[in-house]
Formats: sequence, C-alpha cells, structure tokens
Amino acid sequence: MIRPESKDKPDAPAAWQPEIIAFCCNYCAYAAADLAGARRMQYPPNIRVIHLPCTGKLAMEYVLEAFEKGIDGILVAGCLEGGCHFQEGNLRARKRTDKVRAMLDEIGIDGRRLLMVNLSAAMAPTFVERVNEIVNTVRSLGPNPLKAADSRAKCARESAHEGAVSE
Ligand code: FES
Repeated sequence: MIRPESKDKPDAPAAWQPEIIAFCCNYCAYAAADLAGARRMQYPPNIRVIHLPCTGKLAMEYVLEAFEKGIDGILVAGCLEGGCHFQEGNLRARKRTDKVRAMLDEIGIDGRRLLMVNLSAAMAPTFVERVNEIVNTVRSLGPNPLKAADSRAKCARESAHEGAVSE
C-alpha cells in the first residue's frame, strides 16, 4: 500500500533528474518513439521505454508499484482512439490511468506524474512533445515523495546503525 509520510513537496537536490518510465504499446506508440529516434529528434534522456503488446495489457498494479518503488513519473503511450490493434485496449487503459491519477492525487503523490497519450506511428513530434511535457511537469513537482520518504528512512536507519556501532 502506498502511504507517503508527508504531503509536502520534497526538496529536490540541485543535480536531481527525474526518472520516468514510458510504457509504449508495440504498435503505434513504439513506432512513433522509434521514428523520433530515427529522425534524431532530441528529447530528455530521463525516459526509459518499456514495450507492451498493447496499453490494455498495462495492469495498474504495475503503475502503482513503480511509484511505490520511487519512479518520479510515468507516460502511457498507446494508439489513437479507434486505432488500437486489440480493439479497445487503449480505451481501457485511458479509464485505468484516469482512476490511478485520481488515486495518486488522493494519496499525495500528485496525479500529474501520470500522463497518457494516444499516437499514430507517424506522430514522432507529438511523442517528443509529450515526453518534454511529462519531464517538465515532474521536474516542477520534484522527486516522488515516496522516494524522499524512503531515503529519509534509510538515513535514519544508517544513523541508528552507526550510533549502535559506536556505543
Ligand atoms: Fe496500441 Fe492497443 S495496440 S494501444
């Protein structure tokens, strides 16, 4: 269960760079990302692309688990509405991401960290725009509060351990 310790925005270290996962369906979205690469279009290197057969295969448990493990933002990229190769996978993914976004708001992580986009295979510029959008949004929000809480807990554990060793 995700429970941030504080709703306050954590302080971002000066050199902090957000870590973002892009879940791309293997058809249009991945093709758009690939085309962006082939055209040498520049976008921030903060994105790690993970292939999915279809965004409809993205269980929201994976999204929540990624946030729980400290990822700062997630982009879900699927085919255009009406263009999903598995009929309604992207529509289901849209409903799920909307629900998870509301959940993230409720628990203090901020739903703006999760973005869904629909692309055709030719929409490389849109892919790049949306990557820039999520990276900038997440940069302005700061690190995932769960990551900050985890590193504070780690520091506290290390201090307690050092104290115990020096006694
Ligand atoms: Fe692309 Fe379903 S195949 S979203």
